[in-house]
Amino acid sequence: MKDTVKLLVETNSPSGREEKIRNVILEQIRTFVDDYQIDSLGNLIAHKAGPGKKVLFDAHMDEIGFVATYIDENGFVKVEPIGGHNPLLMPSQRIQFEHSAIGTFWFESEYIAKKLTDYQQVSFDSLYVDLGVNSRNAALAKIRIGETATFHQPFLDLGTRWLSKAMDDRIACAALVETIKAIRHTANDLYFVFATQEEVGLVGAKPAAFRIDPDYGVAVDICGTGFLDTPKGIKRLAVKLGAGPTIKIQDKSHIGDYQLNQWIAQIGNQYMIPTQFEVLPFGGTDGSAIQTTKQGVKATTISIPCRYVHSPSEMVDAGDVQHCVQLLLRLAETSFPSW
Ligand code: CO
Ligand code: ZN
Repeated sequence: MKDTVKLLVETNSPSGREEKIRNVILEQIRTFVDDYQIDSLGNLIAHKAGPGKKVLFDAHMDEIGFVATYIDENGFVKVEPIGGHNPLLMPSQRIQFEHSAIGTFWFESEYIAKKLTDYQQVSFDSLYVDLGVNSRNAALAKIRIGETATFHQPFLDLGTRWLSKAMDDRIACAALVETIKAIRHTANDLYFVFATQEEVGLVGAKPAAFRIDPDYGVAVDICGTGFLDTPKGIKRLAVKLGAGPTIKIQDKSHIGDYQLNQWIAQIGNQYMIPTQFEVLPFGGTDGSAIQTTKQGVKATTISIPCRYVHSPSEMVDAGDVQHCVQLLLRLAETSFPSW
């Protein structure tokens, strides 16, 4: 499991540039599925045939990133975020471009003159990336305008917790990969979608779901944690690391299907897999894109709790990941009820 996680999180593939991660995932699952296709949006759709209901499991394979927009005469690079970034987290972070050039974020130093009291003014307008060059031409030898980049942070095993960039959502991709490898028999007709461009608006999942036309949909993603988990964490958010994967009651994009949620919780109980109910006061997942496809699909989201979401240091609990795989495996193998 850990090797799969490391492999997936350390592959740099931001939204719109999922070729690399798709190839890595395909290599992992190719011999364990009956067939697969890659659609025109780049989604990887794998199929494991079974007699029962059509069930779609989804994890988005893109990660947040950056794209170079301008290089000044001294070689400093302006970038635009891909997906949701907090500019306050950027200064001193290292990022890696597609052709492997590495640079560090810093910000226009008039803010230093203000003794960092004006941190609120740090925005992507005032941020730049330093590639360690001294001219535009030297920068152009390393990167191109329009070239994308991702956080440059390796996977770390801290013991019971794992730390890396791109846990969102590679940890769920890894969980699905391990589930696919472990399935011995299935009562359901299973589709696994590794979706593109979730971070820029749940783009890939909807056409993939339209193609499959499933009876049920389960998105697998990460969710933030709250006051029970970190010092003065978010109030009203009761999710914590180490208490199991979560079942989505609601977030800002959708309300998880009630019957599906109750059934998933019951499967968890039956097999002694800990789960938490998740009410997330922000965010959204492919679950909402699947749910509103065609005439509507009964869909929900299962999440792996994650600290410091959308930062270069996203942290998950190894036990939660194992429990998520166990839960997904039971769901994949158990005949989905008819509602
Ligand atoms: Co995200
Ligand atoms: Zn995500």
